[in-house]
Parts: sequence; C-alpha cells; structure tokens
Amino acid sequence: MSSRQIKLGAVTMGVGGPGHHYQWLDPEIPGDASVNVNWYIEQARLAEAAKFDLIFIVDSQFITPDSPPHYLNRLEPMTLLAALAVTTRHLGLVATMTTSYNNPFNLARRLASLELISGGRAGWNVVTSGDAGAAGNFSRDEHYDYDTRYARGLEFVQVAQGLWDSYEEGAFPRDRQRRTFLDPARLHALHHKGTHFSVVGPLNVSRSPQGQPVIFQAGDSEQGRDLGAAIGEGIFTHAASIEAGQAFYADIKSRAAAKGRDPDHVVVMPGVSVFVGDTDAGAREIERELQLADQDFDRALGELGRPFAWHDFRQYDLDAPFPDVLHVAERGFRTQAEKIVQLATDNNLTLRETVHRLSAPRPTPFAGSPETVANEMQRWFEERALDGYNIHIGHPAQFRRFTHDVLPILRERGLLRTEYESGTLRGNLGIPVPENRHTLARRAAGAEPARGSVHELMPMA
Ligand SMILES: Cc1cc2nc3c(=O)[nH]c(=O)nc-3n(C[C@H](O)[C@H](O)[C@H](O)COP(=O)(O)O)c2cc1C
Repeated sequence: MSSRQIKLGAVTMGVGGPGHHYQWLDPEIPGDASVNVNWYIEQARLAEAAKFDLIFIVDSQFITPDSPPHYLNRLEPMTLLAALAVTTRHLGLVATMTTSYNNPFNLARRLASLELISGGRAGWNVVTSGDAGAAGNFSRDEHYDYDTRYARGLEFVQVAQGLWDSYEEGAFPRDRQRRTFLDPARLHALHHKGTHFSVVGPLNVSRSPQGQPVIFQAGDSEQGRDLGAAIGEGIFTHAASIEAGQAFYADIKSRAAAKGRDPDHVVVMPGVSVFVGDTDAGAREIERELQLADQDFDRALGELGRPFAWHDFRQYDLDAPFPDVLHVAERGFRTQAEKIVQLATDNNLTLRETVHRLSAPRPTPFAGSPETVANEMQRWFEERALDGYNIHIGHPAQFRRFTHDVLPILRERGLLRTEYESGTLRGNLGIPVPENRHTLARRAAGAEPARGSVHELMPMA
C-alpha cells in the first residue's frame, strides 16, 4: 500500500458551467438540475459510494444573459449543503463563499452550523470574487482592487477562525444536578479590530468534531497564491499540463513552508474533466463528440467577456487583432485575462482566432481507456503535480464510467482508499484538527489537564 493516497473531489455544475453551454441537452440531466435538490443528492450519494473526499459547490453573485446555464439559476451553496449533510454520512461538503461580499460573523456562523449538522464535514473555498459586477449587488460602486480584496480576504478568514475558537471543548457541561449549562471560563470574545473588520464576538455556535471547517482557497495571482499559502489547507486550481501542475504545486508548497507551515497539510487539487471509453481511440471520440456538442461561437464570444469584467467583445471587428483591453480586467479575473491576452499576442491572433483557440475541441490529459486514465492520474500524482483531483461530474454516463472502471484500478494499486478513514473531512484528507487557541494558551500556562480528560466544574455559588 502506498502511504500517500489520491484525494478526490466531485464538482457539479448541473446544466453546464463555463464552456459547457449545451451540457443540459444530455437526456440524463434534468433541465432543472442546477436547482433540483434531488439531483444534487443523487450526485452526492454517487460520489460517496465511490469514496470521494468531498463534493464542491462553486458559486458567484453576478450574472448576465451570457453566463453559463448553471450560473443563471442555481441554489445557494450553504442551503444546498445543509440538505446534503443529512443525506450523506462521510462526504466532505465544500462551498465557495466570497470574502468580498460577506461578513465574517454571518459566514462563520453559517459554516459552524453546517459543521454541527454534518458532524464535522464542512469546507470553505475562500475566494475574493472575479465578477466585478457583484459590487453592484452589494451597495458598492466598484469591486475592490487586488491588494485590497486579498488583504480583506486574509483578515476575513482570520476573524472567522478566531470566532470558531469562541467555545473551548467542555464549554457546555449541561449538568442538570448542578444546574450548570455553560462554563463561562471556556467562552471567549474575540475583540478584533483590524483594517477591514471590527468584530467583538463571541460566536454563538460551538466547535465541531473537526474543530473548524477545512479552508480551501482558489485564486492564481501572486496575491491569491500568498493567501492560499497563508491559510489554505486545500488549494483548488487548474493544471493544463503535468509541467504546469508541477510548477504550481512546488510554488504553493514552498510558499506555505516559507510561512512556517507543513506543506503536507496543504492539499493541491486541480479541477479536471475525464473522458473514458473502451479504448483510447474510443475515448478520444467521446471527448470530441462532447466538446463539439458544446460549440457555439457567439456564446463563446459573449462568455469571453467574463474574465474582463463582462466586457462586450461583440463590439469589435472579429478579424482585427485581439483588442487592447487588459486594463478592464484590473478588478475582474485578472490572472485568467492575462493568460488570454498572452495567448493572443504570442500567436498574433485576431479576436475570432482567439475565441476559436479557447473553445475549439482539443485533446485533454485524462482521456482514454480506464487503464490509460488510471495510469495518467497515477503519474501526475506520483510526479507531484497534485495531491488530488477535483473531478467535473459533467455527463452522468462519463461519471459512471469513471467511478466504475477507473477508480477500481487506482484502488487496486493502493492509491485510493477502500473505506473512509474518518467521519470528518479533516480526518479523510489527513489534515490535523486545529487546537482551540484558548485551550492551547491554558495548557501553555500549565492550567489545562491533558487533552481528552473530563473538565470538572466547581459548583456555582
Ligand atoms: C480553480 C478555481 C476555482 C474558482 N472558483 C470560484 C468560484 O466558485 N466563485 C468565484 O467567485 N470565484 C472563483 N474563483 C476565482 C477567485 O474568486 C479569484 O478572485 C479569481 O480567480 C481572480 O483572482 P486571481 O487572479 O487571483 O485568480 C476560482 C478560481 C480558481 C483558480
């Protein structure tokens, strides 16, 4: 048995996320999949039966008619995950929530509640939002600039973590004989006063079996990587090739080490699509067919605007060089916009050619027979391009083939679990429980008995 095992997340974007405008035509996908709780429950149960670590629900707060079908009409993630918490037992439940348009107390409370509802299986994908238009939905004239939004993001997470330590273990003796519900010595206010937030606390929800939700992070810029290295216990990212994955992996792990963290406690999980067929050639055919079904030049042209703060590219001559508009992405998805502009300038592409390049069917790394896909997944994992995969569920028939045909091969090789190790997400990911800071301080002062002992309370006067 290999000691290091592949982590697996399942990403579901019901009727179709970015670049998958016609996924909803698949007869196996209900037309209302993205707002149909039963459909999500079914996907979560399939992922749990296949021993996935987690299901990941992406989110955003701004749409236009050019947004992908799933984005146009979808369930709010925490509400959805509460339903999945009571219909699954082991699966981690991870939601994207933005630090730019939330408030630390409310968000910490919602996540702490999901922690208790699920028995310690919650995760938070910390993002700062690339959709600049979200500002207009939250009483702001414009989105924060990068430095501000990432500094706010860091402070936000630190405040939430402080709030999650409001109660120590043993804070609620609930002793009927002594009429003692609370041990007030184990309840702590936060009294945070920072650049972006003032939060007194304490939070009115106690800790869960995993102590605190697992913190994931997604944002590829310099500032985003620094935030991930500082607070991310899981990193969601993209990897176009094994080499790109290795470079990102090495970078994140060394940034985390430089911050005094154990790099093994930062799990890197890029999102990937998988295409499985009876043979390699058969899989490539399925891949091409599914990619061709998503082709729509006008939709792709419209959606090109998203990284550029929903800039309208339909106004330009399609056959002129790619327009000089990088500046409009300054408060959007800048890293993604930079990559698109670089592709266009490096290759002297027109706008039309750029859209074609970005959306044209092309071979992806994880397509082939079950054996081929398993081999490639093993290679990327062993050659340290990643610690795990966020698998896009996409088309149900393909997800079935992946779980039925590919995963058993990896399991046979000792690269995947056969049973869940733990009932918590931390336990399954191998990420330690962060000890309550007040308990630690008490222990450092020599006043705390060894962990796990019963706290005896003095009777109340
Ligand atoms: C893999 C990945 C997943 C992301 N998921 C979301 C998401 O669900 N919602 C969202 O608003 N932003 C998401 N983001 C974007 C972040 O919000 C971030 O602000 C955006 O990528 C721009 O910042 P960057 O230049 O640091 O990447 C994601 C980014 C990555 C790399």
